[in-house]
Parts: sequence; structure tokens; C-alpha cells
Amino acid sequence: MNILIVYSHPSKKSYTFQVLEQLKQAIKKQNWDLEISDLYASSFQSDMSEEEYEREGFAKLNLPIPKDVLAEHQKIKKSDCIIFLYPVWWSDCPAKLKGWFDRVYSVGYAYGQTDNFPKMKTIPFGLVICTAGHPNSFLSEIGMSQSMEKIMIEDRLGKRFENKEMLILGGTLELEKVMADHLLQIEKAVEKIKIYLA
Ligand SMILES: Cc1cc2nc3c(=O)[nH]c(=O)nc-3n(C[C@H](O)[C@H](O)[C@H](O)COP(=O)(O)O)c2cc1C
Repeated sequence: MNILIVYSHPSKKSYTFQVLEQLKQAIKKQNWDLEISDLYASSFQSDMSEEEYEREGFAKLNLPIPKDVLAEHQKIKKSDCIIFLYPVWWSDCPAKLKGWFDRVYSVGYAYGQTDNFPKMKTIPFGLVICTAGHPNSFLSEIGMSQSMEKIMIEDRLGKRFENKEMLILGGTLELEKVMADHLLQIEKAVEKIKIYLA
């Protein structure tokens, strides 16, 4: 089983980094192969260049796909499950991860009707895990959980993933109150990978 974590947080002192460590341990216990795209540590380029925009905006498939994007395509090709892990910033993922979608989901590969072009494979399971300062009850009350799920699950993961789930680990402003429950939820999420990929 090959798991890819697309991780987006700049600091090792963060709670999101602790969640990454917990996930790594839980995945290690299962003896699965794990690869991590650590977008900040690798200084992943999140801005689209003018040439990339030409390619994307006008479906000019003859223009080259940058090497760093092709490297992400190779990781995706190997994956049975992709986990996106990030903190909620202004009701969305950090710009770094948004830039990953902008650039890695290139036209002809992740969307667009094209013949004879290498297509993104359908990934068996996609799991979105985000940490959030507000409690889940508040995010749900103001309709924000629903909006975030709609964008991440329905649009960004979309039909590219056979099964998909989103876990919002909310309430981090009062961390000591939520940490134990979060850990349980992370362990349950890893169990779900087992079920979906059995
Ligand atoms: C720039 C910024 C924007 C944030 N926006 C939100 C937000 O819109 N909703 C929310 O619930 N929490 C928000 N937070 C709180 C983070 O989600 C929270 O700090 C994070 O999930 C857990 O902390 P960590 O940075 O230690 O991993 C924001 C934090 C920062 C730094």
C-alpha cells in the first residue's frame, strides 16, 4: 500500500506538525509505504509562471510541464491513497497547497477532454485532514465546514478520487480540550484507509 501525504505547514513547532507525526506513526504500524510532499520544506513553487498560465488557460498541451510538477505526477501515479494535511487559514488551505492544485492539476492530466495524453489515474482513497482554531460546532453553525468540504472534496478531489473524506480537527484555540479526541479521530481515519483499500 502506497500512501502520499501532501503536507503544508511552515513550522515544526505547530500542532499540524504534531498531527503529521501521529499520522506517520499510525501508518508505520500498518507497514505501508509512505511518501511525503512537504511543500514548505521543499520550497514548492506555488505561483504559476506566465508560460504555465499559457498552457493552462488556453489548453496548449504542446507547452512543457515543469519538472517539479512532473515529479508530483510520478508520486501520484504510485499512490493508493493521498492525504492532504494543512491548517485552516482564512477558511481554506494555505496558499502553498492551493498552488499545488493550481500547478499539479495540469490541463490534459487532471482535467480537460484530451486524447493521447497521460491522464491522472483515479486514486482509490483521498483523505483531507485540516486543523482549525474554531470548534467544529461553530464552523458547522456558520456553514464554513460545509463550504470547505464542498471545495476540497467535491471540486479539488472530485472524480479523481474513488472514495474521499474530510476530517476537520477543530478547536485548536483550546488545544488541551480537543487533543485526545483528535488523536482518536486520526486513528479512526487510518482504519478507514484499511477498509477502503482492502
Ligand atoms: C493566517 C491564519 C489564518 C487562520 N484562519 C483561520 C480560520 O479561518 N478559521 C479557523 O478556524 N482557524 C483559523 N486559524 C487558526 C488555525 O487554523 C490554527 O492555528 C491551526 O489549525 C492549528 O495551529 P498550528 O498552526 O499550530 O498548526 C488561522 C490561523 C492563521 C495563522
